Amino acid sequence: MESSLKILLVSDDEVIHNQILNSISGGYSVQLVQTDDVVREVNRDIQDIVIFVQPEKDVAVESIQYIKSVSPATLIIYISKGSDFTQLRNITKAGATEFFVYPEEHSLFISRVPAIFQNYENNKLKKDQSPQSFTKGRGQIFTLFSGNGGSGKSSLAATLAQTLKVETTAEVILIDLNLQFGGIETILSIESNRSIADLTPVINELNEGHIRNVAQKIDTSKLDVLISPCDAEVAENITEEFIAKLLRTCRRSFDFVIVDLPSYINHHVVTALEESDRIFYILTPDTPSLKVLKQFEELAVRLGIELPSKTSIILNKIGKENEIQEKDVKHVLRFPMAATVRLDHKGLQPYINKGEPIRKMAKERRLIPFAKDVKKWGLSVLN
Ligand SMILES: Nc1ncnc2c1ncn2[C@@H]1O[C@H](COP(=O)(O)OP(=O)(O)O)[C@@H](O)[C@H]1O
Ligand SMILES: [Mg+2]
Repeated sequence: MESSLKILLVSDDEVIHNQILNSISGGYSVQLVQTDDVVREVNRDIQDIVIFVQPEKDVAVESIQYIKSVSPATLIIYISKGSDFTQLRNITKAGATEFFVYPEEHSLFISRVPAIFQNYENNKLKKDQSPQSFTKGRGQIFTLFSGNGGSGKSSLAATLAQTLKVETTAEVILIDLNLQFGGIETILSIESNRSIADLTPVINELNEGHIRNVAQKIDTSKLDVLISPCDAEVAENITEEFIAKLLRTCRRSFDFVIVDLPSYINHHVVTALEESDRIFYILTPDTPSLKVLKQFEELAVRLGIELPSKTSIILNKIGKENEIQEKDVKHVLRFPMAATVRLDHKGLQPYINKGEPIRKMAKERRLIPFAKDVKKWGLSVLN
C-alpha cells in the first residue's frame, strides 16, 4: 500500500542522494530538493520526515532549527559526511532525531529506516485520531499570471478570491502585486493609504496581526485585501525576500492566498511564482497570446521556475466569434486547462466601471455569466 508520509530529501550531493533514493522502497514517495530550496518547501507543505544531507555551506544547524520552528512534529534525519562530534551534537540540539555518517553507515541507514518510518506513521495515526491534536493545514498560494496585459488577471483574481470567501468558510486574502500601478483598489473601490509597503518596516517579525492591520476588509464579502503601493519608487525598494516572507506569513494565517501579478517578469514575480502552489496562466483565445505563452514557458525554463507540476490554463473571454476555439487551443497546450470563462462584456462592465465587487454573499441569485464561470473554477480548486 502506498504510504501517505511526506518525505523530503534535502541534498546537493548526487552520489549520496542516489544511494538514499535507491535504498528507500516499499511505497514511500520521496521529494528531492536542494539545500537552497528547503525553506520554501517546508513553508509550502508540512513534511513528515526530512532527510537532510550535510551541505557544502555551513547552514545545516540553522536550516534544521528553521524546519523545527515551522513544523515541530517533523522528524529530521541528518546525513553527515564526517564524524565531527561537536557538529553532530549541535545538529541534535537543533532538532535532528537521528544521524548517519556517510558512507560508512549507509547499510545501517538501510536497516534502520523502515522501522523509523513505521514508528513515525503509527504515532501519526494515533495523533490524527485524537481530536485535540488537530492542526490547521497550510494555506495554499494561487497566483494568476499572463504575459499579456488586459487578459483578465485582475478581474479574475478579485472574483476568484471573493468566490472562495463567500462560498466557503475558508479564510481568504487577495494580494495585489502590481506594485507600480495597482489595479485591485480600483476594481474593488478601496480607498485607503495603507498598502503592502506599510509592512516593510516590520518584515523581520512579520505576523498575522501586522497583515490584518494593513489589509482592507471588503464590507460585503469580508474578504481581506492587501493593495499595491501604486508607486514605482516604493516598488523598487521592495525586495524579493520581502515578497517571500509576506507570502509565507499569509499562508500560515489564511487558507487561500490569491495573488494578482503584472504582465511582466521581474524578481518580485519570479519569487511569487516560486512560492505558489498553483499558477493559473490566463490565456485569451488568439494567436498572439498563444505566442506569448510559449515565450513565457521558455523563459521559465531559463530562469529555473518549475512550471509543469503546478501550472494550469484559464481560458478567458471565450465566445463564438473567437478566432480560435477551445478545442483548437487544447491540442497545443502543454498544461491542463483548469477552467474556461466566457466573454461577458455586458455582465462585467457595470461592475468594473462602478468598482463594485462581483460577489457579495453566498447563494446570490442572478449571477452574471462571468461570475458563474469563476464559481465553477473556484469550487474545482477546493478538492
Ligand atoms: N471574461 C471577460 N469578459 C469580458 N470582459 C472581460 C473579461 N475578463 C476581463 N475582462 C475585461 O478586460 C479588461 C482587462 O481586464 P483586467 O482584469 O484588468 O486584465 P489584466 O489584469 O490581465 O490586465 C477589463 O476591462 C475587464 O473588465
Ligand atoms: Mg491587472
